[in-house]
Amino acid sequence: MWTRRQFLNRTSAAAGAAFATYNPEALNRLREAGEAQSGRSLADVARDEDFWRVVQEGFTLDRTIVNLNNGGVCPSPRVVHEALKRYLDISNQLPAYHMWRILEPNIESVRRDLAHDIGADPETIAITRNASESLQIAQLGINLRPGDEILTTNQDYGRMMNTWEQRVLRDEVKLTKIKFPVPPVQSDLVQRFEAAITPATKVIHFMHISNLSGHIFPAKEICDLARKRGIITVVDGAHAYGHFPFKITDFDCDYYGSSLHKWLLAPVGTGLLYVRPDRIEKTWALQPAAASQSKNIRKFEEIGTHPAANHNAIAEALMFHRGIGGERKAARLRYLKARWATELTKLDRIELHTGMDPAHSCAIGTVGIKGIPPNDIAAKLWDDQKILVTGIAVGEPQSLEYSGIRVTPNVYTTVDEVDVFIEAMTKLAKS
Ligand SMILES: Cc1ncc(COP(=O)(O)O)c(C=O)c1O
Repeated sequence: MWTRRQFLNRTSAAAGAAFATYNPEALNRLREAGEAQSGRSLADVARDEDFWRVVQEGFTLDRTIVNLNNGGVCPSPRVVHEALKRYLDISNQLPAYHMWRILEPNIESVRRDLAHDIGADPETIAITRNASESLQIAQLGINLRPGDEILTTNQDYGRMMNTWEQRVLRDEVKLTKIKFPVPPVQSDLVQRFEAAITPATKVIHFMHISNLSGHIFPAKEICDLARKRGIITVVDGAHAYGHFPFKITDFDCDYYGSSLHKWLLAPVGTGLLYVRPDRIEKTWALQPAAASQSKNIRKFEEIGTHPAANHNAIAEALMFHRGIGGERKAARLRYLKARWATELTKLDRIELHTGMDPAHSCAIGTVGIKGIPPNDIAAKLWDDQKILVTGIAVGEPQSLEYSGIRVTPNVYTTVDEVDVFIEAMTKLAKS
């Protein structure tokens, strides 16, 4: 193992050339860089630009754009993208053999590794194409009767709400949405859910972390109050897995769906579904599988012909993720968020809709400037500095609850890029 000094010496001696050609030793370099950090506090690692430079150079990015819209979908590290291309090339030699017989069976190694990382039994983990598919398996696969009630929030994700709305029309179930102010207070959120439960409530659907405000929900408390009443929980973890560390055993949910092409940095078109063992048989698959598979988590993967490359390259994304370390990654993301949020909140017109408590937020932050519509802020940042963010507005236009731009750095974001954003926002807020 290298000492931190040896690592830094090698880093600066090799500056540029070694980084520019990221070679098959890439994961080793990341591991070595990680080992050199061993024993240091998370706070120290979070601001060690030499360490993060090794991480940043692991990607092929367009640095002419300051990408602060990493919430929706993210670039994969070089090693992941190379694995994806390699598997596609292998498949294309003779898909009926190379894809189906050689590559596809290795989905089991990915299931094992994901399950290990999230602290679940592999027999409870299905690999899907995105969080939408994972959540819809639960939403459309649970038996419900007319009059049964689903409890959620008015800030939950649009597509997931459309899915429940379809059940409202088709199965005559009822959808109830609670409202809450931002930044939310944990106990208040739990109380709002509790107060809205009725004898007809059969499902509680909520986000682990909000894509709008970046708030991390009290998942354990909400799942506990549902479990006590026999209510099924569907947790939308689209933005959670790979973003900040947690185990599925931290909260006793029935279904958990996450994207892997967001914070885990796996190839586009990858997702994860956890189903509590006693719910597998009771859940209808989106695409029906053989009756003999009714108790098998793999029934949710019966989707017809699809590329094996995408899901197999998840293994590489997990390696990269572990190379950084989940705790270090979250500490860096919190550091980057705090860097811009602390500066901007010193300004009069700035409204921060995300709390500063690191326990309840991570990389995602939403910020507004009084008097400037969010899309105008986003357009100005883009036009003036090629900074990419996304506009957020919650509520109806005539009764807006909050609005702003959502800012999401990632592990490849540099502090210089964050500072360019701070400067551009400061100029706008003072204009
Ligand atoms: C909260 C939330 N849920 C679900 C999804 C759907 O994720 P995907 O597009 O990976 O299916 C998103 C996407 O941004 C999201 O933000």
